This record gives sequence, structure tokens and C-alpha cells, in this order.
Amino acid sequence: MKNLVVLSGAGMSAESGISTFRDAGGLWDKYPVEQVATPEGYARQPELVIRFYNERRKQLLEVEPNEGHKGLVELEKEFNVTVVTQNVDNLHERAGSSHVIHLHGELTKVCSSRDPQNPRYVKELRPEEYEVKMGDKAGDGSQLRPFIVWFGEPVPEIETAIGYVEQADIFVIIGTSMNVYPAAGLLHYVPAEAEIYLIDPKPVDTHSMRPIHVIRKGASEGVRELIEKLKRD
Ligand code: APR
Repeated sequence: MKNLVVLSGAGMSAESGISTFRDAGGLWDKYPVEQVATPEGYARQPELVIRFYNERRKQLLEVEPNEGHKGLVELEKEFNVTVVTQNVDNLHERAGSSHVIHLHGELTKVCSSRDPQNPRYVKELRPEEYEVKMGDKAGDGSQLRPFIVWFGEPVPEIETAIGYVEQADIFVIIGTSMNVYPAAGLLHYVPAEAEIYLIDPKPVDTHSMRPIHVIRKGASEGVRELIEKLKRD
């Protein structure tokens, strides 16, 4: 079986009703990124940050995977599929994808404020625990914090992701503006002989000279078209 690696971003979940970050009216228009997605913002106003992620978590209970997420599951019949996602939602898993790498953390998990990357203190929340409160403590006694990789923090999963990308026969970029590193840099690890596809309704600057098959569509329609194309080849 050929290896197919997907790099997904916020656009993957847009048709499920989750806002992207950088489109007009996106999350970073409504909430200053320095406030809710940096360690400094968290140190300054932990309550606001915890509330922001509580809201994001609550939204998970109201949304469903879309046809795009489901199409990637269908591809598992023909390919060894690895999904590398920048998304912190759980829609790939809920659609049924069996191998998902989260580069930027997961909304459904919490960790220690003192030692965020320490796996000992990472905990999966049950839906009834989605509302984290000030005073809720991690195993080391520090405030429970969202298990999210904020700007300026290391991205530990990138090494694992690179390992899969280096073995890719087919690399598919879906719904990311390719603005955020190291995620966007994964493209440089795609083997020279691999085919690259990009699904996005808008033009995306990939910062690469590699030939790319562009499917200028939203995730649901775009993944459908990808499946048809891969069947023909
Ligand atoms: N289907 C596919 N793509 C879409 C759709 C759709 N229906 N709607 C919008 N898009 C595309 C946009 O055209 C854009 O290229 O999704 C992309 C979203 O880009 P961003 O908002 O920048 O999101 P992303 O690239 O995932 O951001 C990366 O930045 O803020 C951080 O940590 C956050 O993981 C996030 C990272």
C-alpha cells in the first residue's frame, strides 16, 4: 500500500461550522492571538484563556465531522493514511481516521501549567468535564491548562510528523494558509518523487517551487475530487 500523508488546517473543519483563524471574521479577528494563544497571555489572564478554550471545547459537542473528514477515512481502504493536523478539534478521530498526529495539541485534553509537555500530567477530559475552572489542579498541583501548543512554544510532535512525511508517496494539504511554522515546513520533507495535492477554495502560497495539483474547492468537494483523481491514476 502506498503512504498517503495529509496536512490539515482550520479549513478542514470550516464546513463543520468551526471558524478558521485568518479568514475575514476568523477567530484571530475576534480574539487577540497574544491574549489567548501565547504563554504570556496565559500568565497575564489565565481566567480569560481558560474561558476561551472552554468555549471552544463546548463547541465540539455541537459540531460533526464533514464529508471531507469522512473521505479521508475512505482513503484508508486504498492507502496507508496518516493525518497530520494543526487542528485542535477531534473531528478527524470522530470521523474514524485511525492515525492522527496533532501538532498543536488537543482541545479534549488538559495538562499542567508548570510543565505543559510532561505526559504524566496530560489528561483526557470526558465531555462532562469540558468546563475547566480556576482552581482545578493538574497532578503536580498547578492549575489545569488547555493542552494546546501556543505561539512561542515547542512543537514536540513535529519530529514524528517529519518521519511520516519523509515516507510519503502522496502528500495532501487541506485547508491551511501555510503561515505557521514548523507545520508549513513539512512540505520540504516530502520526497522528490511524491505527488502533492492542495485542496483550498482560495489560492495558497506554499513557499515552494514544487509542482502541486491544486484542487480549488472546499474540503468536502475537494476530498471527493481527490478520491476520483487517485482512482484514475
Ligand atoms: N475548505 C477548505 N479550506 C478552507 C475552507 C473550506 N471550506 N474555508 C477556508 N479554507 C481555507 C482558507 O482559504 C485558508 O487557506 O483554510 C485556510 C485556513 O487558514 P488559517 O485560518 O490560517 O488556519 P491554519 O492554516 O490552520 O492556521 C494554522 O495557526 O493560529 C494558529 O494554531 C493555529 O493551527 C492554527 C495555525
